Amino acid sequence: MGVLEKAPAKINLSLDVLGKRDDGYHEVEMIMTTIDLYDRIELESLANDTIHVSLASRYVPSDERNLAYKAAQVLKDHCNINNGVHIRMDKNIPVSAGLGGGSSDAAAVLRGLNRLWKLELPLEELAHIGSAIGSDVPFCVYNNTALVKGRGEKVFPLPKPPPCWVILAKPDIGVSTSKIFQLLNTEDVVHLRTEEIVNALIAKDFQKLCTYSANVLEKVTLERYPEVLELKKKMTGAGALGVLMSGSGPTIYGLVQQEKKGISIYNGLRGFCDEVYLVRMLG
Ligand code: C5P
Repeated sequence: MGVLEKAPAKINLSLDVLGKRDDGYHEVEMIMTTIDLYDRIELESLANDTIHVSLASRYVPSDERNLAYKAAQVLKDHCNINNGVHIRMDKNIPVSAGLGGGSSDAAAVLRGLNRLWKLELPLEELAHIGSAIGSDVPFCVYNNTALVKGRGEKVFPLPKPPPCWVILAKPDIGVSTSKIFQLLNTEDVVHLRTEEIVNALIAKDFQKLCTYSANVLEKVTLERYPEVLELKKKMTGAGALGVLMSGSGPTIYGLVQQEKKGISIYNGLRGFCDEVYLVRMLG
């Protein structure tokens, strides 16, 4: 018998960079939440001691470069497991988009193998193991709304955002996270009022959430990729609120409270951009 896990996409309600670290990473302070756009991960035991990944994607490799593969390998080593696993991935989250698809797949494999192999590891331990795979993996292990600090390994749960719809649009480019971080001048960063976003979540104040949400990487990506700036202007002009780039981009999202408004913005953007989604906020 196999196990199934959902791997939802994340969006950044905020992303602040506090400084550069000695290990080459950046000290971040961000608020992330999950949305109803997810990959499906199916795990099945293999008689031989191998990891096999199958997926239909032009963009994601099925070998050890795949974060889901890495997650299985890291967990196998951590727990001295001699069983093999077949990981079937049904990908829906756009790749290299700033939506944490690869990290969420890895986190889903950790949760799923924890069940398949009856390891009974607490989520905290899975998150710790996940931090070796990627900075966003610890957040994705919990799949909630959280304040995330450090390199990404410190995850503090927050109340979920007020119910709303999320319109996402991804221009036809992939963005390298490490390149965007490299191009950021940390001296120039105008820091966010993260505590106001936390207050907005506690008060379930949609307007306030939209007012304070911001992403300091946006400037870097928007300067480098004019098509992302154009998309942000289009989404804002169409009437979405809290329009923001997620992660290092290039996906731009906007929020609306009414589904009807969401549908009209979604339809308007589809004429302009191939990859557009209208989903519910989860958190
Ligand atoms: O951890 P992950 O492999 O997902 O990060 C991709 C790249 O993003 C890193 O190689 C690093 O250049 C950059 N990064 C960073 N600071 C973070 C997270 C990521 O500089 N907190």
